Amino acid sequence: MTQRASACGKVILLGEHAVVYGTPAIAAGIERGAWAEVSLADVGPSTLEIGDRRAVADAQSEDDLARAFSALVGSDRAFSVRAHSELPPGGGLGSSAALAVSIARAIEMYTSAAPHERELRAAERALAWERVFHGNPSGIDMYAAANGGTFEFVRGRGGQPIEAGAELWLCIGLSGSGASTKTMVESVARQFQRRPELQARTLDGIGALVRNASLAIQVGDLVGLGRLMDLNQMMLAGLLLSTQPIEQLCTLARGAGALGAKLTGSGGGGSVIALVPAPGGSEDEGSDVAKAVLRAWKLAGFEGFVTRVGATGR
Ligand code: MEV
Repeated sequence: MTQRASACGKVILLGEHAVVYGTPAIAAGIERGAWAEVSLADVGPSTLEIGDRRAVADAQSEDDLARAFSALVGSDRAFSVRAHSELPPGGGLGSSAALAVSIARAIEMYTSAAPHERELRAAERALAWERVFHGNPSGIDMYAAANGGTFEFVRGRGGQPIEAGAELWLCIGLSGSGASTKTMVESVARQFQRRPELQARTLDGIGALVRNASLAIQVGDLVGLGRLMDLNQMMLAGLLLSTQPIEQLCTLARGAGALGAKLTGSGGGGSVIALVPAPGGSEDEGSDVAKAVLRAWKLAGFEGFVTRVGATGR
């Protein structure tokens, strides 16, 4: 018998990096995500196949994937896992967390625990995986992968859903290069260690943007939200997290009518989110502004797609 589970990708609307230090952040699930199929294996160790990448669970391996898989799967039983992510790795859209949560959920289906208990145990398994890749994860990616929706997240406290006053639509542009979350988080930590006043200023500033953005989302003030995203991008650039392609994606999006644009996730590469008006009807391709943003990106050689945010994690 094979067990199958899925989890969604995520965007951080505001507050990445500061969230690692306890400042609130706002994130949302997106429809693209990951799935996993798990079956019991006759003999161990457990094996993992993600596209053409293969790993055997091994806590001592030099390969991060083998160690992360070992931390997630444990050694009580042996599983054969096949997983797939629709999200670019290192793209800032929570591919690693979506894979971890979907694999962990499918494995937990082999236990007789109550559904709530299984979800908690799946979260612990996924966190063990994330620690290997990210060192000091705030947990926001995993929370989004498991729950989706639009939510405010505080490290150690988890997420609080935000009731959005208007539909939120984003164009997501891929900068073409990925970056390791661990490396980017460590780079910010070094800057904060060298300059404590930068840490205080950054966390206060981003905290204020997040508080205002939460209100803007609740009342459906998309223009206000877009401005706050632009300001957040300036602060992230000040932490050396932006790159030339990220700046170009943001400029092109704003020029095509987006209400605001910023990097999402760890930066140093990865993706840009651009806030666009909702389409008039039930069109999946998005509004005219969304189409103009995607066209401008394409002409400049960047791939992108439009999505409504707030998808749920199953
Ligand atoms: C990565 O998606 C978000 C960061 O804030 C790291 C974290 O919260 O663990 C950069």
